[in-house]
Amino acid sequence: MQPAGIAGAAERLRRGQLVAFPTETVYGLGGDATNDRAVAAIFVAKDRPDFNPLIAHVPDAEAARALVVFDERAEVLAREFWPGPLTLVLPRRAGCAVSLLAGAGLDTLAVRVPALPIARSLLRAVGRPVAAPSANRSGRLSPTSAEHVAAELGGRIAAVLDGGSTTLGIESTVLDLSEERPLLLRPGAVTAEQLGRIVGPLSAPGDGVARSPGMSLRHYAPTLPLRLSATAAAAGEAWLGFGPRDAGATLNLSPRGDLIEAGANLFAYLRKLDGPPYIGIAVSAIPETGLGVAINDRLRRGTSDVKGG
Ligand code: TXA
Ligand code: MG
Repeated sequence: MQPAGIAGAAERLRRGQLVAFPTETVYGLGGDATNDRAVAAIFVAKDRPDFNPLIAHVPDAEAARALVVFDERAEVLAREFWPGPLTLVLPRRAGCAVSLLAGAGLDTLAVRVPALPIARSLLRAVGRPVAAPSANRSGRLSPTSAEHVAAELGGRIAAVLDGGSTTLGIESTVLDLSEERPLLLRPGAVTAEQLGRIVGPLSAPGDGVARSPGMSLRHYAPTLPLRLSATAAAAGEAWLGFGPRDAGATLNLSPRGDLIEAGANLFAYLRKLDGPPYIGIAVSAIPETGLGVAINDRLRRGTSDVKGG
């Protein structure tokens, strides 16, 4: 993991490499949000056991508007709290450039404009949205210094942009505005009270509304039934293959059997196959190792009746 300046970090990100960078909250593990492979590599570097959706970081509200649909509430909140530690979950715009994998296949996308000047300079220099979860391994504490990042991810990512210790140290507030009732998904430095003054009463996960991160997320589930561990298509089915043996598949997640490539293609390929002329999607077995664990987790959710609410 190399130290990098803003220009070098931006160049690496544009080439699809992973670069950790500071924000006012915590260090993020950044990758080009429009590049499926870079996004898949983020999940690998973090050892994430599932595809939790990632926040798209942009330098200003205008860049955010290009990705998601703002309503009046979002406009007011953006004016009030951006740049700053508030993440808004909004409906993806048609033609949104962000990788489906970054959004975990959801119809919504989380967007944020960080306040730290070095972060905004980096985002401007990249010129593309940057997907960035906190730069820790899954299940560990979020890093608030470049040294923490090195301890967590050294050897796994290309570079770190060192901006010293972060000031807030707590991840951004996450507010879901994709439905009428605003839902506070994660408390943070922008408080529920501050938000409530602008958007009215907030719900929280557990209030009978299943829009919380992780397990109960409303993940995109294909409308067609999925059949797992298939070795061929039955009549009417599309076949989503994996590896060199599946030469006859309708689409192949990775003809050479590369799990990162498979992760990168997963959501886009499921969408492609999800409709006529097919009546179902047969999916080949994916090895339960590395990123395969997350891929299988996602596929299993796609078959269960519990589609995340
Ligand atoms: O302060 C922060 O937000 C830091 C810095 C790097 O910006 N980032 C961060 O990312 O904490 P992460 O991936 O560790 O947390 C993002 C949270 C997760 O709980 C995720 O489930 C939720 O946001 N999230 C992201 N996209 C979502 C979506 N479309 N719908 C619901 N929740 C979403
Ligand atoms: Mg995190």
